[in-house]
Amino acid sequence: MTILQGKKAIVTGAAMGLGKAYAEALASEGVAVAICDVRDEVHEVAMMLTRRGATVRAWQGDVGDAAFVRRMVDEADAAFDGVDILVNNAGVWRGSRADDDLDKSIDDYHFRVDTNLKGPFLFGRAVIPIMIEGGGGDIVNIATDHMVTCGTPYFRCPKLPTCPWGDAPRPTGGGDGMDLYDASKWGLNGFLYGWAKSLAPHGIRVNALCMGATDSHMLRSFHRFDPPQEEVDSWMKAEDNAAALIVLLQEGPTGRNAQNHNFCVGRPVALEEPAEHLYIIAEQLRGPGR
Ligand SMILES: NC(=O)c1ccc[n+]([C@@H]2O[C@H](COP(=O)([O-])OP(=O)(O)OC[C@H]3O[C@@H](n4cnc5c(N)ncnc54)[C@H](O)[C@@H]3O)[C@@H](O)[C@H]2O)c1
Repeated sequence: MTILQGKKAIVTGAAMGLGKAYAEALASEGVAVAICDVRDEVHEVAMMLTRRGATVRAWQGDVGDAAFVRRMVDEADAAFDGVDILVNNAGVWRGSRADDDLDKSIDDYHFRVDTNLKGPFLFGRAVIPIMIEGGGGDIVNIATDHMVTCGTPYFRCPKLPTCPWGDAPRPTGGGDGMDLYDASKWGLNGFLYGWAKSLAPHGIRVNALCMGATDSHMLRSFHRFDPPQEEVDSWMKAEDNAAALIVLLQEGPTGRNAQNHNFCVGRPVALEEPAEHLYIIAEQLRGPGR
């Protein structure tokens, strides 16, 4: 039995990919999981976990819809009597470029920002009062390695022989077809630092997982669902990422806080030594017991 046994979690975007792996890993630790997705397969995930003996509830809905978020969080709180862990995972990708037409871009903007940024914002606002009342918790936002490419802009990654990036560091960010995706994910830094500082006194930690290429529906869609095998072989596995999430959560309230955890291709999928904060001093992250 681990310290996660009996906790209650919300995982968004859990019908497949990383979200499904997070829900499975949490359920294996004895955590009751409330999962949601726009896809109705989220109910199949709930049935699969229930058959394994887990306590699970599923909702079909859009994380960018405030009425849905309110209803799901209220119902999950009522069903489980609290929320200890929030994993803001639901995310979408679609190419966008700086010279795109404005009319196309407005649709692109809502598609990405409503899911990738507004979703975590709404879930945060709905869940944080519940966590404060419960005496603490963990919020984990799922970002991207574009925010921490080769450690930039926070530190310079120690180079490993397995790193495929040649003369790192690469410039921070994704490619030139990623401006809106990157902006929506970078916006999560506002919540990471703002929430971590203001919620530390309540025993709530806020971290982000920033992974590179991890095998999923989203990544396979980049390759029109026919990726070259050597490419697939280089990708990380959602299960390994979920295992790292569990390690982070098992650290408990005195564990690392306000960190963008970098999992990039060519490095082990594991939490590294806590990076020294350049912009937040430890005193600002003091919480109960720290
Ligand atoms: N796979 C990667 O290489 C990779 C790399 C960096 C970051 N990420 C991030 O990881 C997270 C999970 O990605 P994935 O690769 O598992 O993608 P995926 O497409 O395989 O799964 C995403 C899930 O989120 C759901 N979803 C999308 N929009 C939603 C909405 N508005 N409301 C509710 N559910 C919604 C989808 O239906 C899907 O089930 C995303 O935030 C993504 O940006 C993934």
